[in-house]
Amino acid sequence: MPEFAPRLKQAFGKCPAKNTAEIKPLPQSIREGRHGKCCCIQKLDFLDSTPHSRHILMKPLSLISSAAATTVALIALGLSGCKSGSNNTIKVGEFASLTGKEATFGGSSHEGTLLAIDEINKAGGVLGKQIELLTEDNQSKAGETANIVNKLISRDGVVAILGEVASSRSLEAAPIAQPAKIPMISPASTNPKVTEVGDYIFRVCFIDPFQGTVMANFATKTLNAKKVAVLTDAKSDYSKGLAKYFKEQFLKNGGTITSELDYNGGDKDFKAQLTTIKGSSPDAVFIPGYYNDVALIATQAKEIGLNIPLFGGDGWESENLLQVGKEAVEGNYFSTHCSPEDTSPKMISFVAAYKAKYNKTPDAMAALGYDSAYVLADAIKRAGTTEGSKLRDAIAATKDFEGVTGKFSLDDKRNAVKSAAILQIKGGKFTFLETIAP
Ligand code: PHE
Repeated sequence: MPEFAPRLKQAFGKCPAKNTAEIKPLPQSIREGRHGKCCCIQKLDFLDSTPHSRHILMKPLSLISSAAATTVALIALGLSGCKSGSNNTIKVGEFASLTGKEATFGGSSHEGTLLAIDEINKAGGVLGKQIELLTEDNQSKAGETANIVNKLISRDGVVAILGEVASSRSLEAAPIAQPAKIPMISPASTNPKVTEVGDYIFRVCFIDPFQGTVMANFATKTLNAKKVAVLTDAKSDYSKGLAKYFKEQFLKNGGTITSELDYNGGDKDFKAQLTTIKGSSPDAVFIPGYYNDVALIATQAKEIGLNIPLFGGDGWESENLLQVGKEAVEGNYFSTHCSPEDTSPKMISFVAAYKAKYNKTPDAMAALGYDSAYVLADAIKRAGTTEGSKLRDAIAATKDFEGVTGKFSLDDKRNAVKSAAILQIKGGKFTFLETIAP
């Protein structure tokens, strides 16, 4: 069996009995959405014309199980009628961590983005055309994004890029989008460096100097903490930045940092760091990490008897934090972008539409993905064109945009100015605590 392209890996598994390929279902949102309106390949989007997947298409059918063979034949028939590549659609690229260690980030942001694109298309599209969303998975891996974004721009000819959640991966994409003059809108990357790459790079979320300040003030005022330890992911631009901004404000508040330790995202054993932290006797621990690591950190903190509040930022938000962290994460706090409990009419209708499509409650990344697609569509309409520099100017002029994550404008550094929400984990759920305005 040849090495499959990453996207194909999701769809084909090895049949141990026959040593042949067999079809495995893709997650619903990915199956239905990748090529948006494109007439035929939207249900089997893993078959594109990259050298790898062309290779798969040309594999002798005898090597492919009969179900797969039928499907491949159907696709081959369908492809001939596909309008992809014509001028009938406006192509928008999306890159996301649909698989791998931060798969819930990409899954959620993609679902939100796709919901918005579907709604926009149902309402007639933009400039008389349907939007075609081309989604690529970077598998949550460093080093994958550059290829993907290059391909979206040079081969697929997208007019704009939506993505990503994790700052480190948005930081891989931005230096490619910027010189190509293809506007990029990150839904959820909060590290300031992302939009500093250049004037074609935007985001629809707040930035970490704000998020860090919010959590430092929360530690001082609500947790009444005087001494805090900080545990940072040394591999993540997001984590390092948020730790820095938190510390600056917490020290300004008169607080003390008892210890500063780090780990590498994906580590499994945090006991050495946690033991040092325990020895420094803090009132609470700030952990600006991602949910998968935080769940293990919280569990191991309990195991070594470190029973003090843990708190962090938006990277905590995932159902997996609750499922893996269980009681160990109970009572802890984090900041994020919005809450599905928000009673604004926009949030209420978004939550209803999302539940109807995906049968689950949206998280912040889904809401931000949704807002990023609407901000882009709104800018295309105002620009009256998808030409890069005019579209850039229209995105930059986004003002008083009514999003599901609140009403916001983009500032002169292309960042959204908006409130943060603080959530607490209570009874195995994320519960809304308070909103903090900028
Ligand atoms: N803000 C995080 C980052 O920049 C990503 C994130 C956003 C995670 C929203 C969860 C929710 O890396």
